[in-house]
Formats: sequence, structure tokens, C-alpha cells
Amino acid sequence: MASIEDLDNLRTQALAQLAAATDQPGLVAWKNAFLGRQSDLVRFSQGLGALPAEERRTAGQRFNAVRQALEQALAAAEARLQQAALTSALVAEHVDISLPGHMAALGRTHLINQTLDQIIDAFQDMGFQIWESPDVESDEYNFELLNVPPDHPARDMQDTFYVETPPGAPRVVLRTHTSGGQMHAMRASAPKPIRMLLPGRCHRNEDVTARHGMMFYQFEFLVVGRGITMAHLKGTLGTMAERLFGLGTRARLRASYFPFTEPSAELDVSCFLCDGAGCRMCKYTNWLELGGCGMVHPVVLHNGGYDPNEFSGFAGGFGVERVAILKYGIDDIRWFFSGDERFLGQFG
Ligand code: FA5
Repeated sequence: MASIEDLDNLRTQALAQLAAATDQPGLVAWKNAFLGRQSDLVRFSQGLGALPAEERRTAGQRFNAVRQALEQALAAAEARLQQAALTSALVAEHVDISLPGHMAALGRTHLINQTLDQIIDAFQDMGFQIWESPDVESDEYNFELLNVPPDHPARDMQDTFYVETPPGAPRVVLRTHTSGGQMHAMRASAPKPIRMLLPGRCHRNEDVTARHGMMFYQFEFLVVGRGITMAHLKGTLGTMAERLFGLGTRARLRASYFPFTEPSAELDVSCFLCDGAGCRMCKYTNWLELGGCGMVHPVVLHNGGYDPNEFSGFAGGFGVERVAILKYGIDDIRWFFSGDERFLGQFG
């Protein structure tokens, strides 16, 4: 290439060919042809030195202008190609970037824990302390110290999961009720009076049904002091019932049997669902059964380190699921442990 006119022709020709390059290999080939070491443009620059000084300056400026124009055109063509590739990928994937994103499901407190929180609030407001005891418990604490020796018929009231232990070692169970915690709480506190709430997970070797789980939660309440009577038990449960189920809910004690309380009772609360009209939930009795309670048996007080001649107490243990089932009209205890968002999402 010799003249400046040739340079202008080169530019026109290069830009025309660049417009025809529609893919990456095409751009690379174009770059080699028009800006590469063997290109006419480079050859032109190599010939600049041979030109007379005056001409050389003008030609040099034109050369720079053309090279710059070609480089800019290449950069613009590369950007165009990238944008086109992205667009066709989005089309191929059927991605509509104008659609709203998927919302992440928000975490929430499980209904069991929500219910436990309400129970804890109700008892804490009555001055109860929270006490936690182990899920894996010795047979001694779960049964024996609660006045249930190994071959006591009351053992049949709760089917038990035993933990494998070496021969001759003390027996260990998955606690069947939170009552084992009573003994820990008493032994850690005697002879000081106590007012405690013991929430916890329990296990029973039972067939799973709409009303019974193999695993469930209980809350145990325990009061030991001087002059504690059944009236205190009734008053406490009346307050609890109104806190959990609404003002006007009444508590009723019905005679029952537990080896660790004497006398023993079942607590019923008036049916707040039908308010006395009769419904399926209360089986048209107007009362809902909540769980067992009673006055702490003298043997249990003694085992806990309290002199039964000086101290008395009351205790009880209710199902947490049972409270939620009644409160929200839930038809099957298995929902609680299903992890099913359609169920859990309705609460909180
Ligand atoms: C007891 O467990 C006694 N420890 C309660 C007690 C404590 C009485 C202190 C006296 C003094 P019971 O087995 O009835 O009692 O269980 C109490 C509550 O736990 C039941 O009313 C029920 O709500 C819940 N419960 C028991 N077994 C299951 C189960 N398999 N699934 C779900 N909830 C259960």
C-alpha cells in the first residue's frame, strides 16, 4: 500500500467486512486480516519511514486515525455479539427476566414451640421457674423414685423404650413423661419451697394414631411448700385454662389414679369451642380432657428430700400437642411432625 487513498479504501473495505462478521471466529479472522502483523495496515506503517518528512506526518496521523477507527469498530462488534449471545441463551432457556423471582419461604416458630411459649408465659406469670431435665433418663428417676417399682402394674400405663445398657448396669429409658424431672428439681432444691414448670419431649412405645404419637411433648408443673392444698392446684389450673383458652374457661378435676400423686385427678376444661352447646371436639360432653395431676405422694416428697409431715405439693403433666389440638381444632397429631408446610404455614 502506498498512498493515503489506499488507506481510506482499506478502511471502507474493513468496515464493510466487519459488518458481515456474525460470529466470534469471524471477528478473529477479521482482526488478523485488518489489524494483524501481516495486514496491509501494518505494512503501511512500516513504509512510513521511507516517506519525505512532511508527507510522513500527515500519513502517520491518517494511519493512527484509521487504526483507531478499526479498533473501536471491532470492540463495538464484539459487544454486539456478546449481547446477541446472551439474548439467544435467555430465549432458549425460556427465561423471562421480567418475571418476579421466587420468594424464599420465611422461617417461623413451630406450632409446638409457639404453644410451649404460651404455656411458659402463663406459668411464669404465676411465679413458676422453668426447669429442664434429660430426655434420656434412668429407670430410677422415670419410675422407681416416683413410687413405681419394677413390677408395679402401673408400668403398663406407659409402654417404654429401654436404652441398651451392659448387663447388670442400671436401666435407662427414653423418658415416658416429664415427671422424672420432678425428682431432679426436688433434690436440687430441698428443703426450699419450689414452683416449677418442666417442659420436655417424651417417648412411648405406642402405635401411632390420630391422638397418640411415639414422640410428643409434655409440660409438668410442680409446687412444693408448706400448706399447699388441692385448692391451690385447682386455682392454678383455672388460671392456666383462662390464659391458654380464653377468659371464662373453667377447670374441673375428675378423680383418677397415678402412683405418684394422692389423691389423683384428670383436669377437664370447659369446651371453649362450642361454649356449652355441644360439639364433636368435646364429644357433646361440654368438657375437654387435658391431662393428669394430683397432690404429690408422700413417698415421692420423701424421695425428693422433703419431709412429708412438713411439706405438701401438687403436680401434673399435660400434653403440649393436646393443648394445640384443642386450641386450633387440629384433627390429627401426626400433622405436628409431618414437616408439611401446608399445615405449619397456617400458624404464625
Ligand atoms: C402422665 O404422663 C403423668 N406423668 C401425668 C402426671 C404428672 C400425673 C404429675 C400426675 C402428676 P398420662 O400418661 O395420662 O400421664 O399423660 C399425660 C398427657 O400426656 C396426656 O393427657 C396426653 O395429653 C399426653 N400424652 C400421653 N401419651 C401421649 C402420646 N402417646 N401421644 C401424645 N400425647 C400423649
